[in-house]
Amino acid sequence: MNASDIIAAAEHRSTPCYYYDIALLNQTLDLVKKYGLAKGYHVHFALKANHEPTILQRIQQAGLGADCVSGGEVQQAIDCHFDPKHIAFAGVGKSDAEIELGLEKGIFCFNVESLQELIVINEIAKRKNTQAPIALRLNPNVQVNTHKYITTGLHENKFGITDEELLLVLDALADLSHIQFLGIHFHIGSQITSLEPFVELCHKANDYVTQIENRGFSVKVLNMGGGFGVNYEDPDSEPIPDLKSFFEVFDTHLNYRQDQEVHFELGRSIIAQAGSLLTRVLYIKERSTKNFAVVDAGMTELIRPALYQATHKIQVLSLNDSNAPITNYDVVGPICESSDTFITDHPLNKLQRGDLLAIRSAGAYGQVMKSRYNLRPDFPVLYSDELNHTTIDTE
Ligand code: LLP
Repeated sequence: MNASDIIAAAEHRSTPCYYYDIALLNQTLDLVKKYGLAKGYHVHFALKANHEPTILQRIQQAGLGADCVSGGEVQQAIDCHFDPKHIAFAGVGKSDAEIELGLEKGIFCFNVESLQELIVINEIAKRKNTQAPIALRLNPNVQVNTHKYITTGLHENKFGITDEELLLVLDALADLSHIQFLGIHFHIGSQITSLEPFVELCHKANDYVTQIENRGFSVKVLNMGGGFGVNYEDPDSEPIPDLKSFFEVFDTHLNYRQDQEVHFELGRSIIAQAGSLLTRVLYIKERSTKNFAVVDAGMTELIRPALYQATHKIQVLSLNDSNAPITNYDVVGPICESSDTFITDHPLNKLQRGDLLAIRSAGAYGQVMKSRYNLRPDFPVLYSDELNHTTIDTE
């Protein structure tokens, strides 16, 4: 992050605000192209991580497709020029209206989560006199080391079709005349920083393909989902996740054939490190037991620390007193909740009212999860490639 550019830009904008480093996004996308797309893999960007039009247009121009979990996301992807033929639609609770939208727009694939959903999609497709392309989202019961709220591929999670349910689904599939079976889909969780679970997933996927093809269905699409994690503790040491090693796992362990397509749905690994939440110190509360730095951003702008006990690095961008000694702070927001805490007992230069901080690695699941709680106002967004323009454009 070029701190001086950001400081200059922030001077003319109110805080809190989100800042995106577009050069870093472009470099990340270059690696997705080099290690993913160039090998023939299809990579869909998970809009749930970020749905800002400026970001989506860059990602679309780089040749990625979209992974959506609501009708709103499908529409946003189309509005941002993604070809419907490159839009996958996942989600455990698709409404009838959302299924109709997907069919009308001619999306690539519905990732189906249950037999009942499959039957409903078949009925709606029949009514519309069309075929619904689908992949079965399987729940492979793969253990991942991440926060319990973001595991998705265990039998205790609501997601996907278990092995037992798969037998019933395959029995039913042959009779569903308006379903076009494309293949299988997985997503085992998010912020997975070890490659081992993905190796295990490949082995399970190989077995599923054999099992399903033995039943007479041809598996054309293998959608391996997303979930690759980023370095929140030290984003500058790893601004781009090791996408080379991630894709190599699938080169090595997934037994796919020339006539099969391999798809991915990456969100966090593409956009997390490119985003920061900029915030100013409002007040300092010094106690004999601890110090609080009350900042102008809160859980309404970035809920991850409150919801998942996530740690985001806090970088001091500008200080009123540049010789300030190191002091420990709880950095907290203005929201009327004790969970509105970004970090506890954390060493920073002694802060004063007006000092500018960046809460790093906030590009994924940051801005998209904002809320109006406490009737908080909306906030501005800055893009690194617009900074020159932004600094003259004072409001
Ligand atoms: N595909 C499916 C079906 C998903 O459910 C998800 C994320 C993704 C792809 C993208 O996963 P990624 O590559 O971004 O890990 N709000 C939480 C994360 C929730 C993730 C939900 N599913 C957080 O802030 O950590």
